[in-house]
Amino acid sequence: MKPRHFLRLTDLSAAELSALIDSAIALKRVHREGREQPVMAGKVLGMLFEKSSTRTRVSFESGMAQMGGSAIFLSPSDTQLGRGEPVEDTARVLSRMVDIIMVRTYAHAKLEAFAAHSRVPVINALTDDFHPCQILADIQTFVELRGAIAGRTLAWIGDGNNMCQSYIEAAPLFDFELRIACPRGYEPDPALTASAGSRIQVGRDPVAAVAGADLVLTDVFASMGQEEEQQERAARFADFQVNHRLLQDAAPDALFMHCLPAHRGEEVSAELLEDPRYSVVWEEAENRLHSQKALMRFLLSAG
Ligand code: CP
Ligand code: NVA
Repeated sequence: MKPRHFLRLTDLSAAELSALIDSAIALKRVHREGREQPVMAGKVLGMLFEKSSTRTRVSFESGMAQMGGSAIFLSPSDTQLGRGEPVEDTARVLSRMVDIIMVRTYAHAKLEAFAAHSRVPVINALTDDFHPCQILADIQTFVELRGAIAGRTLAWIGDGNNMCQSYIEAAPLFDFELRIACPRGYEPDPALTASAGSRIQVGRDPVAAVAGADLVLTDVFASMGQEEEQQERAARFADFQVNHRLLQDAAPDALFMHCLPAHRGEEVSAELLEDPRYSVVWEEAENRLHSQKALMRFLLSAG
């Protein structure tokens, strides 16, 4: 049987995603109560990182260990990938040795090529185009703190990047409205936006996007791989900082999320990031652990 992969949110149905969030919330409780079962005993997760990571690496590795399995960290500098072995060959070999694989890389097409040649489930741990694992953690966090996300209004302020594009895919699947405010030239892929339908609005005005929003989101101005654009982007995004002033007209119980790492004083003010009335970034980061445990359980049982 062909394995189920999680390369983007649309690889799962709305019902599967909803069940996964419920499972993540339940697993968090079980873990905190010390009642976790070694359901992954003997299972091995391969973790291929071509970009840096703190949260993704530690949450996947800890998650696997907590479930009784183990994980192997792999990077181009210490595998043959870095010396030119094709990604297709790497996938064929690794997937004969491990049970599930997560990949963080640049081009999304490279991840797709990897998955097409893998015998075991492959998880997107961030590409230039999508970061679906982060959305699982974010939705879990919102549901835990505010209840159902269906029918809510979300505001994305800043770059139309991999995070923004995964939110666009999330909107129809989780049934929320998404208002995006970004500078001209930094929009998400228009075809993707169009395919998500009327739930998505793309504009230039952060104040309009945030008005009445239940959840306000942002991310760094320059993502990994765009370091040389940092200065130009800092100038273009100067009016797109999320801070207390911007949140004035958000819903009274609005939450602020950021996938982290954050650049204080750039895309978010230090004061807002540290204000627990709005900012739930630490809970959000922790939920990477629980939601990815639920994801790995799902993919290994669905395969
Ligand atoms: N949010 C996120 O994916 O963080 P890392 O880059 O530290 O993994
Ligand atoms: N958009 C950021 C997210 C980091 C978790 C990046 O791709 O670098």
